[in-house]
Amino acid sequence: KKTVQDIDLKGKKVLLRADLNVPMADGEITNDNRIVQALPTIEYVLNEGGRVILFSHLGKVKTEEDKKDKSLEPVAVKLSEYLKKPVLFVPETRGEGLESAVQNLEDGEILLFENTRFEDLDGKKESKNDADLGKYWASLGDVFVNDAFGTAHREHASNVGIASNIETVSGFLMKKEIDFIGGAVDEPKRPFVAILGGAKVSDKIGVIENLLEKADKVLIGGGMAYTFLKAQGKEIGTSLLEEDKIDLAKSLLEKAGDKIVLPVDGVVVSEFDKNADYEVVSIDEIPADKMSLDAGPKTVERFKEQLEGAKTVVWNGPMGVFEFENFAKGTIGVCKAIASLEDAVTIIGGGDSAAAAMDLGYADDFSHISTGGGASLEYLEGKVLPGLQAINDK
Ligand code: 3PG
Repeated sequence: KKTVQDIDLKGKKVLLRADLNVPMADGEITNDNRIVQALPTIEYVLNEGGRVILFSHLGKVKTEEDKKDKSLEPVAVKLSEYLKKPVLFVPETRGEGLESAVQNLEDGEILLFENTRFEDLDGKKESKNDADLGKYWASLGDVFVNDAFGTAHREHASNVGIASNIETVSGFLMKKEIDFIGGAVDEPKRPFVAILGGAKVSDKIGVIENLLEKADKVLIGGGMAYTFLKAQGKEIGTSLLEEDKIDLAKSLLEKAGDKIVLPVDGVVVSEFDKNADYEVVSIDEIPADKMSLDAGPKTVERFKEQLEGAKTVVWNGPMGVFEFENFAKGTIGVCKAIASLEDAVTIIGGGDSAAAAMDLGYADDFSHISTGGGASLEYLEGKVLPGLQAINDK
């Protein structure tokens, strides 16, 4: 499978798809990790004398109104700071302005064109992989470098569409994500321990099922653990419960034997409130009128024991309502426990747990923090990612 290192870039117009879908508030980028992670490929192409035509989606664009706060212009500004060179922002997704900007690019120069999903206002052309749109974007360049792992679960014009028209290779980030996540799932060093959290069982069924086959232990925390505890016949009070998933949880527990490890204590409150009075109780003693919002200290200890000696760890999903300080200790404890493992490949499967590790200052202690949300989940589920498939088919 070809990467950006396998092709000649000098003087080439290089279409570079990154996932620059960064969180924004009031026009400001609130976390620029995806920009930082896109830099190695961009810098490499520029240094090799390529002419970079960079593009990405940002958020979802459903109405004309949405365009106002979904422009990629702030990303061009940020990128220019990191690259220490001008990044020409082209406020269009097609047309003469974009075409002449592309023609005027010199070797080692870069432009970023506007949010590919602005094309969604006219018949969802980007998101429905409109054939003409993919062909048009492909016509702007000589070669396509797809580095947008975070978008690889989408079959859109700006990844799959372009790839079906022009030579396509992966960038460094795409390769790194595949090497780490794919490596962990397909040929893990053992013991392989997965830690899964988050609110809903329904969001994680595919991941649980796939990792139960691949991992040696699956530690389940977060809101979704309570459906499993209920399936074991425990009283979970008013904690999160997905009634319609109890049977599934039961059958997973039966199949898994002692592979699944669940919380042994919880932090309970009377109401869902960040300032609510709380206490730690054993998982067998959750009062009928209380809900658990976090894993307790004994659960963290139990999970730590399971992590001892692990050679591969994949973590996806928080252990509690970590946005509230009082209910973040379970997530922090697990994050620290994984971060302190010395001899293991440690991977965070993106989303909330990635944000938590970065906010807590543990990012550097992990082998890999995925830039994907949906993409890493689907990859952990063992699904084929269309964006990746389109590169491999080349
Ligand atoms: C993500 O943030 O997971 C990716 O950028 C994909 O975004 P989407 O869910 O809007 O397609």
